[in-house]
Amino acid sequence: MNTITVLPEELVKKISAGEVIERPASVIKELLENSIDASAKNISVEIRQGGIKFIRLKDDGQGMSKADLLLCTDRHTTSKIKKLEDIYNINTLGFRGEALSSISAVSKTEILSRFKDAASGYKLSLNGGKKELLEAQGAKGTMITVMDLFYNVPARLKFLKSPQTETGHINDVVFRLALFNYKLGFELKAEGVELLKVSPVKTLKERLFQLFGGETANSLMEVKKEEDGILISGFISTPDNAKSSRNYIYTFVNGRLVSDKTVNHAVSSGYGNIVPLGKYPLAVLFIKLEPGKIDVNVHPTKREVKFSNSNLVHGVVEHAVKETLLREKPVFEIKAGGSTAGSLEKTGNNAYLPVSGTPAGAFPEAFEKRAAFVQEGLLNEDKYRIKPLYQAKNMYILAVDGESVLIIDQHVAHEKILYEGLKEKKAEVLGSQQLLVPVSINLELKHSLILKKHLTELNNYGFEIVPIGKDSFMINGVPVFLALKSPEKILISVIEQLEEELAGTHSIKDKQDTLIKTLACHSAVRAGDALGYEQMLLLVNDFAECGLPYCPHGRPGMIKITFNELDKKFKRS
Ligand SMILES: Nc1ncnc2c1ncn2[C@@H]1O[C@H](COP(=O)(O)OP(=O)(O)OP(=O)(O)O)[C@@H](O)[C@H]1O
Ligand SMILES: [Mg+2]
Repeated sequence: MNTITVLPEELVKKISAGEVIERPASVIKELLENSIDASAKNISVEIRQGGIKFIRLKDDGQGMSKADLLLCTDRHTTSKIKKLEDIYNINTLGFRGEALSSISAVSKTEILSRFKDAASGYKLSLNGGKKELLEAQGAKGTMITVMDLFYNVPARLKFLKSPQTETGHINDVVFRLALFNYKLGFELKAEGVELLKVSPVKTLKERLFQLFGGETANSLMEVKKEEDGILISGFISTPDNAKSSRNYIYTFVNGRLVSDKTVNHAVSSGYGNIVPLGKYPLAVLFIKLEPGKIDVNVHPTKREVKFSNSNLVHGVVEHAVKETLLREKPVFEIKAGGSTAGSLEKTGNNAYLPVSGTPAGAFPEAFEKRAAFVQEGLLNEDKYRIKPLYQAKNMYILAVDGESVLIIDQHVAHEKILYEGLKEKKAEVLGSQQLLVPVSINLELKHSLILKKHLTELNNYGFEIVPIGKDSFMINGVPVFLALKSPEKILISVIEQLEEELAGTHSIKDKQDTLIKTLACHSAVRAGDALGYEQMLLLVNDFAECGLPYCPHGRPGMIKITFNELDKKFKRS
């Protein structure tokens, strides 16, 4: 007896449609990609009830001949590839020859198309597998209408969300495809109301203005890099414009919209720790590489690609992001009429008088020596670009450089200087200072275990700690950058923070970084420490040399108001 039967064609179509068409937004994505492949210049989409009841897409592309129109909704019919190898040298978004077949298997579909210079077109209607083809009038290009999606797959229909949610997904797809295809015009209307409309433009920057608005578009930094045959271009946000999810990393690989873990990770690594934990940058990245270096046929909806060398792609993207950040050195800028409105502290009569007096042991010896040299005129003050003016609330340093007024968070600034110094093992932060009177400490068991585990590393950074009993230790020396701070207090805070932070990190590099961050944070001057003029001078100028003005935990350390902005605010220009 036969238990195996060949499934009828219509059922097979419905089953495979399940993979390609998950929801109305998948229909829109497939139809938009077809229009883009057909060299359309303008594409408009109209939907009703979240696209469940009605989707209509019109394009002004090359259209289809009568013969092609008759074939296009059959399974595995495509004009885009002829043989398997074509997939590895592809310039079109489609190639599987199954989108229209899938859509028409689970909806009532009508396609009206007029081929290139033909005088008239044809209309193909499909309903429950039956095809009808009639001559019809129509504009140049193709108009596809998809009605009653999943009318014949009730189980799928049940999975759909509310029309508003489905409209949101559709809007997202149109937005994303419009982002890359800036030379094309897009329009999306829901229930007759316009949700998105962009006319064709010449540059990506113009499209960013259209889609994100001027404030965001203006704050984005341009990325451009070519390395090992991989070309990266696009824009990324400044760290303070980071978002709460990865959804704002828009990746296009050879023009194909994909979501790719390698690229997402590389973008985050490029920012390092200047984006706070749990935050992600906004990035629009175009990655171009030889078609043969990616496999586009790894996902039924083509939302993923496989790189033949994903480590290489990771490295190039990471470098591209890093270089952009280093080149642009983004800082918080207060714009005239912008939303980052900040209020300056009233500084009183002596606003230009730097505070005098030296904090007790806030800085390491090497730093203090340089400060003393400046004071005694042995180091020329003029060689420093940034001049401090005032220390507000013993927390913020007000300063000026040639083109702007700066407000600097003294703790962040010092933390960053120490962090970079430790990371790069700079001479002035390495080394140990012997304590005149060694200090012995007793630790609770879990802390003693953490200390024993990290003893060698801590000693490498300048501590001289030796175990003297089960949970007792002797501190004979401390890192030079700890200066005169209480060594046992710092050691305990470091151990406590290591306990907390190391819980989540795994790689040796991460662990080392956590250790450096912790040491830098606990050794830096605090809010509340009074600083002398020379110390401020060195602090702000050293900070400016340290790359991006953010602390290793992602907090910003500098606000900048350019004199141009001030002129605008005071209506001088
Ligand atoms: N808007 C359009 N304008 C002109 N031709 C179209 C249009 N949409 C589809 N076609 C033609 O119909 C064919 C089938 O489209 P379909 O989307 O099913 O497959 P595909 O695009 O080739 O591959 P994929 O399934 O990966 O999308 C296309 O190859 C193309 O020749
Ligand atoms: Mg297609």
